[in-house]
Amino acid sequence: MVTTRSLRSRTVSYSLTQPVQRIRSNKLNYRQTKPYSRNNTKKADSIQVEVLIPSIVHTQSNTYQCARERLAPSSNPDSLPCRENEFNMIMGYVESAIKEQMGCCVYVSGVPGSGKTVTVNEVIRSLQKKVANESLPPFQYAQLNGMKLTDPTQAYVHLWQAMTGKKVTASHACSLLEHTFNSDKKSESMCVLMMDELDLLVTKNQRVMYNLFNWPSLPCSRLVVIAVANTMDLPERILTNRVSSRLGLNRVNFQPYAFQQLMIVVQSRLKGMGVFNKDAVEYAARKVSAVSGDARRALEICRRAVEIIESKKTSREHSKSNAQVTIGIIEQVVKEMSSSPTIAFVSNASIHQKIFLWSLLQRTRVTGLAEVELGEVIAQHNQMSRLHNIETLSVNDLLSICSILASLMLIETNGNSIDIRTIIRLNISEEDLIMTFRNDAFFKNITV
Ligand SMILES: Nc1ncnc2c1ncn2[C@@H]1O[C@H](COP(=O)(O)OP(=O)(O)OP(=O)(O)O)[C@@H](O)[C@H]1O
Ligand SMILES: [Mg+2]
Repeated sequence: MVTTRSLRSRTVSYSLTQPVQRIRSNKLNYRQTKPYSRNNTKKADSIQVEVLIPSIVHTQSNTYQCARERLAPSSNPDSLPCRENEFNMIMGYVESAIKEQMGCCVYVSGVPGSGKTVTVNEVIRSLQKKVANESLPPFQYAQLNGMKLTDPTQAYVHLWQAMTGKKVTASHACSLLEHTFNSDKKSESMCVLMMDELDLLVTKNQRVMYNLFNWPSLPCSRLVVIAVANTMDLPERILTNRVSSRLGLNRVNFQPYAFQQLMIVVQSRLKGMGVFNKDAVEYAARKVSAVSGDARRALEICRRAVEIIESKKTSREHSKSNAQVTIGIIEQVVKEMSSSPTIAFVSNASIHQKIFLWSLLQRTRVTGLAEVELGEVIAQHNQMSRLHNIETLSVNDLLSICSILASLMLIETNGNSIDIRTIIRLNISEEDLIMTFRNDAFFKNITV
C-alpha cells in the first residue's frame, strides 16, 4: 500500500541565495526548487522551511463530520490502496529520467475516477520528498489542467514560466521552448510537467499536443511530461503510429476499479470510524461498479449517506448515539441521485444534444464564468465530435439544437434570436448534469 500520511509534514532545505519561488493562482501550481549541485552540501547558508500539506482535521467530538470530510473526493487520502503498481511504474519512469537528466514522456490513461490524478500527485510528492532528502536532483514542477486552460497554446506560457519564472506570449514561449529543447546546450535543470485532462486540448490543429509528446524526446531536452487522459489511444490519433513508436512513450493504463477495490478505497478513508454498517460499503461499491468503477462516485454516495444519518440523528426518533449507515440509506442515496427530472430528460436526449450540454459545461468550467458565447460552445462541440469520430454538425444545425434546449428550459439565452454571438448559460444544476453523464454509456469514459 502506498502511504501518503507520512508526507503531510516535511522539512525542506532551501538555499538562501536561491530562494524557493512559488507562484500560486487558483488554476496553476508551480514550484521551483534550487538548482541541483552534487557538491552543494553547505548547510550553513540554508534555511529550514516547514511545508505543511493540508490534511483533514479530525475532531473526535464529531465522528460524522470527520467521516464526511474524509470521504470528500477533494480531500487528500492518507493512502492509495489498489494503485501500488501504477504508482511504482510512474515513479520508476520519472525518477530515472530525473537521475539520468534526460527527458521522457509518460502517458497515463484510464476512465474517470480510476485514481490517475491522485496517483500522479502522490508520485510528485514522493519525488519532492527525495529532493528534500538530497537523494534526488531538484526539478522544477508545473501542473496544468486542460479543463482550465483558456486556449491550448497557454500550455506553452505556463511551461516557460515554470522553467524560467518569466511570462511571455504563447507564440514567443513556443519558440523559446523549441529553441531550448533543440539547442546543443542542455537546459539548466529538469522540469516535470503534469498535463492533466489532456483530451481537452484536442483542436483542429494538434500542434500543442504534438509538441508536448515530442519535446521530451529531443536529445538536449530535460523535460519530463506526464500526460494524463481518459482516452487510451490519444497518442495514435494525434501522431502517426510511426511517430508515436519513435517517441517511445511510456504508458500506464488505469483499469476501472472492481467492486472489491472500491470497497477498500472507501474503507481506507474510514478506518476506525464505525460509521457504516458492515454491508453498507459493500452495497455502495457494488452499485457503483455495476455502472462505472468510478471511486469518486463511490465516495460521493457514501458521503451523502453520512449526511443523511447526521440529519436524522438531530431528529428525536433517531437520537441513538451510534446510528450507522445501512444498506437502506445507501439505496435512498442512489435513488435520490437518479430521480431528478433533468436527469430523466438528459438521459434520453440525442447524442448531439448531450454533447452540446457537455460542451457548455466544459466552457463554463474553463472560463470560470456561468455565461458563455455560443460560438465557443459550437467550437468545443465539434472538437468533441471529431475526437470520438462522430459526424460533425453545421453551425445551423447547432443553432437549432441550442434553440430546442432553450425551449426546454435546459439552457438560457440572452435574447430572442440565436446566433454565434448569443450568450448562453446552463439552466439546470451542474451536479445533475454530471451525474447523468457519469451514468451514460457514451460519457462515462469521458471527463465531466
Ligand atoms: N486508490 C485510491 N485510494 C484513495 N482514494 C482514491 C483512490 N483512487 C481514487 N481515489 C479518490 O477518488 C477520486 C477520484 O480520483 P482521481 O481524481 O484521481 O481520478 P481520475 O482518474 O483522475 O479521474 P478523471 O479522469 O475524472 O480526472 C479522488 O477523490 C481520489 O482521491
Ligand atoms: Mg483526474
